[in-house]
Amino acid sequence: MNHFLDIHTTDPADLRHMIDHARTMKDARAGLPKGTPDADQPLKNHMVALIFEKPSTRTRVSFDVGVRQMGGQSMVLSGADMQLGHGESIADTARVLSRYVDLIMIRTFEEATLLEMAEYASVPVINGLTNRTHPCQIMADVMTYEEHAGPIKGKKVVWTGDGNNVCASFLHGAGQFGFDLTFTGPKTLEPEPEFVELARSKGVNITLEPDPAKAVQGADLVVADTWVSMHDSQSARERRHNQLRGYQVDDNLMKQAKPDALFMHCLPAHRDEEVTSAVMDGPHSVVFDEAENRLHAQKAVMRWCLGV
Ligand code: CP
Ligand code: NVA
Repeated sequence: MNHFLDIHTTDPADLRHMIDHARTMKDARAGLPKGTPDADQPLKNHMVALIFEKPSTRTRVSFDVGVRQMGGQSMVLSGADMQLGHGESIADTARVLSRYVDLIMIRTFEEATLLEMAEYASVPVINGLTNRTHPCQIMADVMTYEEHAGPIKGKKVVWTGDGNNVCASFLHGAGQFGFDLTFTGPKTLEPEPEFVELARSKGVNITLEPDPAKAVQGADLVVADTWVSMHDSQSARERRHNQLRGYQVDDNLMKQAKPDALFMHCLPAHRDEEVTSAVMDGPHSVVFDEAENRLHAQKAVMRWCLGV
């Protein structure tokens, strides 16, 4: 059974297959109304549970639409409305859901919740974001990069700001897809050494450079994310803003990158905080292609999980 729990725990050949498959499926739907069923209906007779313990726009809608396009049925569940949020164990929830549905996607807080769900479910489980990682995002991001600029292998990606869950999955992606990554942000918000060391052990260059202008030099891709993630305490907001203000991606910073560099953001963006509107809406930005590609990439992930 194929769980999709993280980028680094998924075979690189399988990751490559999913990216290429996503591209083929996207091309096959070009110009069709969004509700048009896919020709082959690979999820016909399949039921998918989408569990959210945190807010979501992209993950929720893209998974739901993806299931429907592939002929399956989906249900979006709020963790707070389930017994899960009222003391029922994750293991028992996993066992029960496995009697009703063929696939579970969960967005949660602790990584341990995801891992326990996968351990006790008898159907595949997909990580829709935890406090530590966001692998579906990186699938869409690699797909988007390659759509615009060709193979990502050997390219220089620069992560700006907070070394958070999306940054961690980018580091996993560096190791599995073979690109170099420079992190630029305050020392206190650097990614966990475990993520850095794992990527380095796969032979890619991982650099921690506190000076954003230096970091971005020669970048093929510049990435930003919110300065305060959903799992961060709101009381840390002001301190984080003060620490991160110097890492805003603006036109001046983008000028340090290669002239044809791309800009990405997983969204939701806080315009004129981590990125200026001029960059978000400017010629380097591919943020809405990136959001669209969540749909196509996750369809490929679901098919890989189910073997259909
Ligand atoms: N990028 C992303 O996962 O967006 P949502 O939080 O809206 O799902
Ligand atoms: N780092 C952000 C990503 C949102 C998709 C968060 O966890 O809130």
